[in-house]
Amino acid sequence: MSFDLIVKGGTLPGGSKADIGIDGDRITAIEPKLEAVAGKVVDAAGHLVAPPFVDPHFHMDATLSYGMPRINASGTLLEGIALWGELKPLLTHEAVRERALSYCDWAASMGLLAIRTHVDVCDDRLLAVEALLEVKREVAPVIDLQLVAFPQDGFYRDPTAKQNTIRALDMGVDVVGGIPHFERTMEEGRRSVIELCEIAAERGLMIDMHCDETDDPMSRHIEQLAYEAHRLGLQGMVAGSHLTSMHSMDNYYASKLLPLMAEAEVAAIPNPLINIVLQGRHDTYPKRRGLTRVPEMLSYGIRVGFGQDCVLDPWYSLGTADMLDVAFMALHVAQMTSPADMRRLFDMVTTESAAIMRLPDYGLKVGAKASLVVLDAGDPIEALRLRAARRCVIASGKVVAEGSGGAMRLSLPGRPQTVDRRHRH
Ligand code: FE2
Repeated sequence: MSFDLIVKGGTLPGGSKADIGIDGDRITAIEPKLEAVAGKVVDAAGHLVAPPFVDPHFHMDATLSYGMPRINASGTLLEGIALWGELKPLLTHEAVRERALSYCDWAASMGLLAIRTHVDVCDDRLLAVEALLEVKREVAPVIDLQLVAFPQDGFYRDPTAKQNTIRALDMGVDVVGGIPHFERTMEEGRRSVIELCEIAAERGLMIDMHCDETDDPMSRHIEQLAYEAHRLGLQGMVAGSHLTSMHSMDNYYASKLLPLMAEAEVAAIPNPLINIVLQGRHDTYPKRRGLTRVPEMLSYGIRVGFGQDCVLDPWYSLGTADMLDVAFMALHVAQMTSPADMRRLFDMVTTESAAIMRLPDYGLKVGAKASLVVLDAGDPIEALRLRAARRCVIASGKVVAEGSGGAMRLSLPGRPQTVDRRHRH
C-alpha cells in the first residue's frame, strides 16, 4: 500500500488516534495505524488533527482597509456603514483583489480553508463582485470561497440595489443576502425578506441575511425569514446572521420564535468578536452584550456557526483570521464553559459552519477533500485555551503552511513564502 502523503499519529477531535492517508486531493484512508510507504509523511504525534476552520460570515471586500480613509470614531455599526460608504467610491479592482489575496494568505496560514464572504452590491460598478469572483477562482485550490450578494445600503433603500443584486447573482455569486433592519421601515424590511427569499427559491440558491443586527427587541425580521424558509421549502438553505436583537427580546416571544426557527431549519451565524464591540453602544448601565441566544438555540436543535465578520475594516480594528479567537470570545460571552460546550464550540468553527455552507466534501472522512490542520494542542478544549499555533496546514492534499504561529512558511503558487500579519496603510 502507498499514499502520496500520510499524516501520522494525530489525535482526531473526537479523541481517537489515527493515521490519515492521502492520495491526490482526497483522503483515502483513516486507520489507527497505516503500514504503508508515502511520498511525504507529516508527523502529528501528540497533536490535534482537525478538519479546516470555516468562517461562515466575512466581508472580504472591506478587509484590511482599516484607517482608509479614516477610522470609525464612535465605534458604532452605523458609523461603520457610513465610513464604508466613503471608502467605496475610492475602491479599485486591483486594490480589492490584493487585499483579499493578502487576507487569504493569513487564512491559509491559520488553517481557515472555507470562507463565506458577503460582497457589497450597492455600487453600480460591481467592482468588488468582479474582484472577489476572480479571487475565488485564484484561491480555489486552497480555500473554498462562497460569495453572498449583499445589498449593504438596503435592498429597497438603495435605488439600484435590487438590479445589482440580480446582476451579481447572474455573474455567479452563490448566495442571496439582505439587510432588513437597515431598510427605511420595519414594513420595507419585511417585504425585502419576502422578495429576496423568492429570488433565492427561483434560482435554487441559499440565503444568508444580516438580520436584526440591532439592540431593538422589536426588530423581528428573523420571524419572517423563518416563515419564508418554511413557506418556500427552503429548509436547511437559510441562515440568519448576527440576530443580536434576540438578546433583548421578550422571553415569551423568544420561546415562540426559537421553535419556529428550528422547524424551518434556519441556521444562526452569530459574530461574537464584532458584536461584543458594536452592541449596547446606546446603553449606559447595565450594558447589554448583544450576542444572540446561542445555548437556547442549541437546545432547540438550531444549527449555529460562528463568523468573524470583520478584520481590520471600518467596523473592527483588530483580527488575525484565527477562528479560535472567535470561538474563545463566544465561549466567554455565551458562558459556554462546560467541557461539552467547549468541545461544541470547536465544532461550531469547523464542522457546523461547514454544514451551514453546505460544503459537500468537507471533513475528516474517507473520500472527503484532503484538507486539514495540525494544531499545537492535544484536544479541542486545549486548542481553545491556547488559541493554539498551527503546525501544519494541508489543503487539497498539499502542505500549504508549516511552522508555528507568526513564523508560518507558506507554499502558495505566486504568493509570498511567509505571512506578515502586521498592518500598514
Ligand atoms: Fe456582516
